[in-house]
Amino acid sequence: MPLERVRILLGVCGGIAAYKAAELVRRLRDAGADVRVVMTENAMRFVGATTFQALSGNPVRSSLWDESAEAAMGHIELARWAEQILIAPASADFMARVVHGRANDLLSTLVLATAAPVSIAPAMNQQMWANTATQDNVSLLRNRGIRVIPPASGSQACGEVGEGRMPEAEALVSALADSCAPRVLDGIRVMVSAGPTYEDIDPVRFIGNRSSGRMGFAVAIAAAQAGAKVTLVSGPVSLPTPPGVERVNVRSARQMRDAVLRISVDSDIFISAAAVGDYRVQASSAIKLKKTGAPLVLELVQNPDILAEVAASQEPPFLVGFAAETNDVERYARDKLERKNLDMIAANQVGPELGFEGSENALLLLWQGGSEDLGRGDKKMLARTLIERVATRYRLKAEKGFKA
Ligand code: PMT
Repeated sequence: MPLERVRILLGVCGGIAAYKAAELVRRLRDAGADVRVVMTENAMRFVGATTFQALSGNPVRSSLWDESAEAAMGHIELARWAEQILIAPASADFMARVVHGRANDLLSTLVLATAAPVSIAPAMNQQMWANTATQDNVSLLRNRGIRVIPPASGSQACGEVGEGRMPEAEALVSALADSCAPRVLDGIRVMVSAGPTYEDIDPVRFIGNRSSGRMGFAVAIAAAQAGAKVTLVSGPVSLPTPPGVERVNVRSARQMRDAVLRISVDSDIFISAAAVGDYRVQASSAIKLKKTGAPLVLELVQNPDILAEVAASQEPPFLVGFAAETNDVERYARDKLERKNLDMIAANQVGPELGFEGSENALLLLWQGGSEDLGRGDKKMLARTLIERVATRYRLKAEKGFKA
C-alpha cells in the first residue's frame, strides 16, 4: 500500500466542502497513513476541530500562536514531520496567499516552510474557479511544482452547476497514492518524447496523427514521481506541463530529432512514446495552396528515425521504444526491438478506444529474451508499472556494465 505509514499533513480551509475532509481523514487512515490535521480559522466555522481530532487520533492545530503546541511540535517541526501535504478543500483565498508566499496563518506558513510535496484540491463556486485570477494562480502554483488536483463538476452547495466541487475522498486518496510511488529512479536523468509531430504542407495545413500525448505525459509523470530528473520533448498537444518536469516543445519530426539528440547525451534513459511522422512533404509551400480543380500530388520523403539514431550514437542511454500496431503486435514489436537496437519496447495494439487519444491503453513489454503483458488499463497506471520495469532492467544493465 503506497500510503502505509506515510506522514500526511491535511490542511483544511474554510468552505462548505470542509465536511468532506472528515471522510478524507478516515480514508487516509484506512490506507495506512499517519494523519495530522491543520485547519484555518475559517475552516473551524464549518467543522469542529474535535471531529478531526477523533478521526485522525492526533491533536488538531489551527493557530501559529498556540503556546502549548509550539512548545511541543512547533510549526517548523510540523513542516518537517510531513512527508506529504494535502490541502483539501483549498479555498481561492488560500491559493492566492500561497502564490504570494504569505505566511499569515499556520497553514500558509507550513506550505512555505515544508520540503514535502504539496497537493492542493481546490473547492469553490464555479464562477470563482473559472475566474482568470484563480486560473492564473493555479498555473503559477503548478509551475512551482505544487500539484493542483482539478475539482470535479456537478451541482454545488450554492445551487449552481459547474466545475468547483471537491473530488470525493476516494479519488483524493488515490491521487495522493500516485505521488507516493517508490523512488526507483532517484536522481536518474530520463528523457521522454510524447505526442505527434506535424509536417507542414503549407502555412495552414499539415500532416499529423492521432497521438494526444497522454501516454508519454503519463510516463513523464510516473518517472518524475519515481525520483527521476525528467525532460519531456513534446509534439503539439494540449496537455499541461507535469509538475517538476522540464518541457521542450517541438512541432516537426526534424525538430524533435534535434531536441532528442541534444538532450540524449545528458540522459541515462530515453523513453520514446512519441508518434513521430514517418514522412514529411518534400517541399512545403510558403504560401497557402489554392484549389485548381486538378488532383493535388504531394511528394513525401522519409523522416529520420530518431530512436535508431540515438541507438547508433557513441554512448546511447538505456532505450525504451513504443510500438503502435494494429495487428501482429508481438511480431512487429520484437522486430523493432532488434532492428532499432533497443533495451525494451512497449507494444500497444491501437484500435477503437485503445492506444491513441483515450485514457486507456494495453501494453506488452518485450526485451531480449523476455516479455510481460501489462494488460489493459488507465494510461497513468500502466505508466507507473512501465517505470518500475524500466528501473529494474536499467539497474540490471548498469550492474553488468553498459558496454556488455
Ligand atoms: O499519445 P496518445 O494518444 O496517448 O497515444 C499513445 C501512443 C499510441 C502514440 C503511444 O503509446 C505509442 O505507441 N507511441 C509510439 C507510436 C509509434 O510511432 O510507433 P512506431 O511503431 O511507428 O515507432 C516505433 C518507435 O520508434 C517509437 O518509439 C517511436 O517513437 C520511434 N520512432 C518512430 C519513427 C521515427 N521516425 N522516429 C522514431 O523515433
